[in-house]
Amino acid sequence: MNSIVILGAGNVAFHLTRALLENTLNVRQIFNRTLSKAQEIGEASRISYTDKISEIEKADLYIIACADTAIEEFSHYIPYDDVLVVHTSGSSPMSVLKGDYRKGVLYPLQTFSKGRTMRYDNIPFFIETEHEKDAQDLVELANRISNEVHLLPFEKRLQVQMCGVWANNFVNHMYAIAGGICERNGLPFDVLQPLIHETAEKMLEMEPKQAQTGPARRGDDIIINRHLDVLQNDSRLLQIYQILTDSIKREYDND
Ligand SMILES: NC(=O)c1ccc[n+]([C@@H]2O[C@H](COP(=O)([O-])OP(=O)(O)OC[C@H]3O[C@@H](n4cnc5c(N)ncnc54)[C@H](OP(=O)(O)O)[C@@H]3O)[C@@H](O)[C@H]2O)c1
Repeated sequence: MNSIVILGAGNVAFHLTRALLENTLNVRQIFNRTLSKAQEIGEASRISYTDKISEIEKADLYIIACADTAIEEFSHYIPYDDVLVVHTSGSSPMSVLKGDYRKGVLYPLQTFSKGRTMRYDNIPFFIETEHEKDAQDLVELANRISNEVHLLPFEKRLQVQMCGVWANNFVNHMYAIAGGICERNGLPFDVLQPLIHETAEKMLEMEPKQAQTGPARRGDDIIINRHLDVLQNDSRLLQIYQILTDSIKREYDND
């Protein structure tokens, strides 16, 4: 892939641009409807940027890294048919790309937030293409960034992406809930940090099922009821607590 254009200037575009450039891949241009965001990435990376569809340059590879709801719209912007166009979504099929070009998907399984410094070499990349040769080329490109590159069809990619929702989005939401409870009780979120660190570190060395502790795991209904009493006035948290407690109990039913 001699030249790459990135469409979108959000979290994934920010990090993919950086990862590709760090590995001497030729990112030529960033396109985004909001010029200031394309400019931010473009200037930081010393590459050209535009908000005009008519100015999108010819390249070998177009990476559409925009909101899932806009992928189809973006896919109409590329007027060439002898190019490869990929999106970066785990949960959208390759068929959302509408155009006469060759199509593919380059899905990185990681949580990206703009501006963070992060490792790229351990990020699993999942690739799907229409054509075998494009798969080879994309694998080669992703291998420049990461040691974890896999070919995966949409049905499996969707499952993997959903695992990301369980393992990251929901867990993060639990941190937000715990942080809110700390705050309402005049405690800083920092008090949870050693626990959060140890939880994540344990997960790298133990099976999650073995690592589970707490009242639901022990079947300690006295403690569970105390917590439910505390949550009486917050029906949303009460429901979440009950659903998770029941789920943990059922997981260990036959132990
Ligand atoms: N974030 C992650 O951790 C992550 C991880 C793996 C894969 N992905 C996938 O990567 C893709 C990009 O995610 P992201 O987190 O980078 O998104 P994001 O930060 O929310 O960025 C969204 C981008 O899409 C553009 N956009 C949104 N709606 C649009 C519309 N209606 N018309 C034109 N442009 C529109 C935004 O343009 P403006 O700047 O003009 O608003 C922005 O450039 C998604 O398919 C996502 O599923 C995300």
